[in-house]
Amino acid sequence: MGKLTVIDHPLIKHKISLLRDERTGTKDFRLLVEEISMLMGYEALRDLPTELVRIKTPITEADVPMLTGKKLAVVPILRAGLGMVSGILALVPSARVGHIGLFRDEETHEPTTYFCKLPDNLEERLVILPDPMLATGGSAIQAVDLIKSKGCKSIKFMCIIAAPEGLKALREAHPDIDIYIGCLDEKLNQNAYIVPGLGDAGDRIFGTK
Ligand code: PRP
Ligand code: URA
Repeated sequence: MGKLTVIDHPLIKHKISLLRDERTGTKDFRLLVEEISMLMGYEALRDLPTELVRIKTPITEADVPMLTGKKLAVVPILRAGLGMVSGILALVPSARVGHIGLFRDEETHEPTTYFCKLPDNLEERLVILPDPMLATGGSAIQAVDLIKSKGCKSIKFMCIIAAPEGLKALREAHPDIDIYIGCLDEKLNQNAYIVPGLGDAGDRIFGTK
């Protein structure tokens, strides 16, 4: 079973509360998403593998830990996941970046894939899959399906707000992946929006309606 982590940190809680506020405008919303993603990324990447490498300091030779393995890949779910990429790349600047474009049908809430471009050698990479919202779970499940179909065996899904319904669906569909959540909300409403949530994450990040 993959890890499930609801990140418990006052800075993240405070910033998510600011995000929820309907008075928070596009510029601040974007900045907060970036900051939260970096803080969450720090937590999500704490088990990255390291190996000892021999170096020479100005004083002596020493065996020091360095990250090892193939460069990880950050694969945002478009559009809203894009807002989380810069915060994660601030931690791992040489990560590869892929994109998965999905939108939810407004009536059925079922996701449709409209774009998929992924880095090569995914079978050897850890993939970080960011999307601010996990509502019904349909988008995340489909994105993980796509990434796994390319041979990837190690996936960490990161979302800022999750609904219990989406979390359950994602855990049932993909029990092996690690999941990092900023805040677990109460429920979905009749339009499959998260309550209390923050509204439409993509529209708030990009200033659309
Ligand atoms: C939002 C959000 C997730 C999805 C979550 O995207 O960013 O991708 O909904 O809902 P689900 O868990 O019920 O699938 P949306 O489809 O609104 O597209 P957008 O990011 O382009 O606005
Ligand atoms: N997508 C969003 O952007 N917000 C929600 O509350 C649910 C899905």
